[in-house]
Order: sequence, then C-alpha cells, then structure tokens
Amino acid sequence: MSDKTPLSSAALSAIRASAARFPAGRQRSAVLDALRLAQSENGGWLSVPLMDAVAEALDMPPIQVYEVATFYSMFEVRPVGRHCVSVCTNISCWLRGGEELLAHLEKRLSIGVGESTANGRIYLKKEEECLAACAGAPMMMVDHRYYEHVSAEDADRIIGELQR
Ligand code: FES
Repeated sequence: MSDKTPLSSAALSAIRASAARFPAGRQRSAVLDALRLAQSENGGWLSVPLMDAVAEALDMPPIQVYEVATFYSMFEVRPVGRHCVSVCTNISCWLRGGEELLAHLEKRLSIGVGESTANGRIYLKKEEECLAACAGAPMMMVDHRYYEHVSAEDADRIIGELQR
C-alpha cells in the first residue's frame, strides 16, 4: 500500500477484515463492501484515487474496480449531494402517483433527476425501477431507507428534515 492512500486507516482495516473472510486468492470478493466503505467516508461518492486505493488494498486491477463502481447504481463516481433521494415510478408506484411525486420533488428542489441542490444537501438520484415495496406505493428511498405511501406533504416533511 502506498503512503498516500486516500482511505482512512479505519477503512483500510475494515477492508482487510472483509477480505479476510474470503478464501486465499479471492480477496477481490470484498470489493462491494470496500467500495461501500470508501464511498461512505468520502461524502457519498468515489473518486478515481479512492477506487485506485481500493484496488491496491484488494490487489486487483483498477479497471475491475471501476467496472464494479460504474455497474451498480448504489455507487456514485462524481460528487453528489449528501442525501440521496430516489422515487420509484414503476407500475405499482406509477399507478399510485409516483410520477407526480417525482415531479413534485423536482419542483420543490428546483432540480431535475440526476442533479443535486445548490447547497449540496440533496441529490435527486433517479427514477427507480421497482424496489420491491409495491404494497407501499408510491414509495421513495432516501439514503437506502424506504418511505412508503408517500404523499407530497410527506415528501416535503422528509426533504425539510434533510435540508437541516
Ligand atoms: S413498483 Fe414501486 S416498489 Fe414496486
């Protein structure tokens, strides 16, 4: 490991512990856990130096780490707002007002899907494709937490708390 890794010593220790759970030579299986940790301590996104540090920690080619980071929707590879908000607009949520809820959030936040608020607090990530909470439609996800049967008023309250 180089001296100038952007990973904290705590993150490096956690990544090594995660890699140690896999058989010898299979340490790259810890890459999802490692990227999650790295993203979490970097304000919600992965820089190239951070992904390179993960690659070095797991002894894998950087390109393979980039491939994982850009494949899974839970990772961001550019700076985004601190809180990640997404709205499901798949069939059950669509029938129960998911698109209107998303439009309400875009208007309230004055941003479009894929954008972050000017104060860096909220990232309106995207329209989700069914998050398996159809009985709770319409639903939205905030920092991986589910909110179900969300009205415009509920969304305003949730967003208001995130803006503090
Ligand atoms: S359609 Fe929205 S959670 Fe399934």
